[in-house]
Amino acid sequence: MLMQSACRHRRAQLLRALGHDCVAVIPTAAEQVRNKDTCFPFRPDSDFYYLTGFTEPEAVLVLVPGRSAGEVVLFCRENDDKAERWEGPRTGLVAAVTEYGVDQALPYHELDQHLPKLLSATGRLFYDLGTHAGFDQRVLQWVGQVRQSSRSQSALDLLALSTHLHAMRLHKDAAELAVMRRAAEISAAAQIELMRQCRPGMYEYQLAALFAYQCQSQGAQALAYPSIVAAGEHACVLHYVANNALIQKGDLVLVDAGCELDGYAADITRTFPVNGRFSEPQRQLYDIVLAAQEAAIAQVQVDQSWDAPHQAAVQVLAEGLLRLGLIQGSLNQVLQKKTYQRFFMHRTSHWLGLDVHDVGAYQVDQQPRRLTAGMVLTVEPGLYIPQGSKGVPPDWQGIGIRIEDDVIVRKKGPEVISSAVPKAVGEIEALMAT
Ligand code: GLY
Ligand code: MN
Ligand code: MN
Repeated sequence: MLMQSACRHRRAQLLRALGHDCVAVIPTAAEQVRNKDTCFPFRPDSDFYYLTGFTEPEAVLVLVPGRSAGEVVLFCRENDDKAERWEGPRTGLVAAVTEYGVDQALPYHELDQHLPKLLSATGRLFYDLGTHAGFDQRVLQWVGQVRQSSRSQSALDLLALSTHLHAMRLHKDAAELAVMRRAAEISAAAQIELMRQCRPGMYEYQLAALFAYQCQSQGAQALAYPSIVAAGEHACVLHYVANNALIQKGDLVLVDAGCELDGYAADITRTFPVNGRFSEPQRQLYDIVLAAQEAAIAQVQVDQSWDAPHQAAVQVLAEGLLRLGLIQGSLNQVLQKKTYQRFFMHRTSHWLGLDVHDVGAYQVDQQPRRLTAGMVLTVEPGLYIPQGSKGVPPDWQGIGIRIEDDVIVRKKGPEVISSAVPKAVGEIEALMAT
């Protein structure tokens, strides 16, 4: 019911933002064939799910402000005894109204019948072209039908829904924050378990399997993205997903992994020594990344620029690299010429929510967006020094480190929802010693 009332509230907010004389069409994702007659596990489209909470395939939400027969219409699959015996229960049209709080539910197979009629009675269609390849064709067909049958060729304007909807998704409501805290908590517990169980001689995929097992056995339905378990120099590959190498004595292991709970992502990275103790060069680099991350988290404040955490991280990383002699010049030169990018080449933060790289504009009026309460972002600086890096002493080569936490922007300061996983050198070593 919490979900139903949250979705109802979001739909009402969106209806207000769209104004009158329009129709908004929000399809769920299409099922994707994996091979032959086997599909990938189905996951609803994030926009659709945000507004409905509905998780079955073949469904479309249609919003029609001011429509007397109902402003909120859900097209979904009808009950079907035979299909349900093979595939499991379907909500059906009656329960779609009672359980999901929509005004009207209509059969999915009648979509092509109803939509041209609804569209011919309006001047504006809100639909995000380019997101749903197959569905785009259907929408364009309806638009063509309407335009051909109306006297004016410009009778129907096509507008982006995402302008309104993604601005809403950027600010998480109480229901979303509660799920995200739990997703981070589950993922944090799984990360801790990996630190406990990691041993030289294990394969990266064994840690990946353990992470998935821990998350799913605590109720998460899926992973938010393919886990990155990167031992030794694999950690220098930012999106390493092969996860098939042996973890060797002396390696650092970078684990970037998070669960998906009720649609919401966690995204946590920890880097720890397989032996349970950091070597001196590993510790020196690690402490620079940790200091950068702490400086960045301190910048997650209401009214601060979303870019401030990145600037803070970059400054600390650059100072550290200069101190170790890994880059040369003055701090100003390094920051201006961005020579630190040789070892830190990605951004420090991204929005987090239903999508791991969540929606929401980073710039507003060509300026970095200001943070406001209820936004959620990651803070994830790193240093990556591949083998063979010219001019770098061998001690530093083959080390990749990233530390990533999930942070809610709050009036009283940053709330780090993934903080249960240790990240100070002493804390990690103490945990791994038990
Ligand atoms: N796990 C992907 C990222 O950190 O952005
Ligand atoms: Mn991330
Ligand atoms: Mn990550």
